[in-house]
Amino acid sequence: MPHADELAHGRRFDLEADQYDQTDPHPVRSAIRRLVVERVIGLGPSQVLDIGCGTGELVLELAPHVGLAVGMDVSSGMLEVGRQKASDRNIGNVKFVFGSFQDGAFRSVTGDEESGLDCITATYSLHHLESPDQHAALRSMCRALGAGGSLAVGDLMLFEDPAGHQNEFERVGYNPANDRPQQAEELVQVVESEGLTVSIESVHPLAGILVGQKK
Ligand SMILES: C[S@@+](CC[C@H](N)C(=O)[O-])C[C@H]1O[C@@H](n2cnc3c(N)ncnc32)[C@H](O)[C@@H]1O
Repeated sequence: MPHADELAHGRRFDLEADQYDQTDPHPVRSAIRRLVVERVIGLGPSQVLDIGCGTGELVLELAPHVGLAVGMDVSSGMLEVGRQKASDRNIGNVKFVFGSFQDGAFRSVTGDEESGLDCITATYSLHHLESPDQHAALRSMCRALGAGGSLAVGDLMLFEDPAGHQNEFERVGYNPANDRPQQAEELVQVVESEGLTVSIESVHPLAGILVGQKK
């Protein structure tokens, strides 16, 4: 079961679900999602789990390139939009399931609990967790991967001090009231400490993409 604070985020996104795809107030967020899709296609996994999938755009874009793409989210409203888009676009190799970073259910969602997951992605969702929870979530994602598996996190992450970029908050999708971006370097350290090889890419001083590969 997701934690209470995760469910609260889900309820907040339920209210946005119908409008989420209609406007693009945060172009850095959509650019990051597109880049994560490119990076994952380059890695060539056979299955992908996207945590905090929202309305499923990343899942649906990856579907033609993988055997199975699963979107997981704490917002039933966002998941329902994702299911409807899959049906409208006639995409069959996708699933949308309710769940969270912290409920542990994601380990078995593609049916690979023993061999481990092939690829886990998260775009603009991890930053909703409090700092220690983000670190714990990153660790459990790393541990859920099988040998050779990969992790791709595209999100708010700090390469510079946000104070110098306040006029960019809207463009990058950073709302200090709700969002808890971590230092990029800290995220790298957590994933490296789990034994993954990490590359990090700054897309904006406040947002980037971390790719980890398990040996
Ligand atoms: C800003 S949206 C991003 C959606 C999508 N990944 C994208 O890139 O457009 C954040 C999503 O993360 C979900 N979310 C927030 N906290 C979560 C958690 N702890 N576990 C799973 N999903 C979460 C929200 O419900 C929402 O759908």
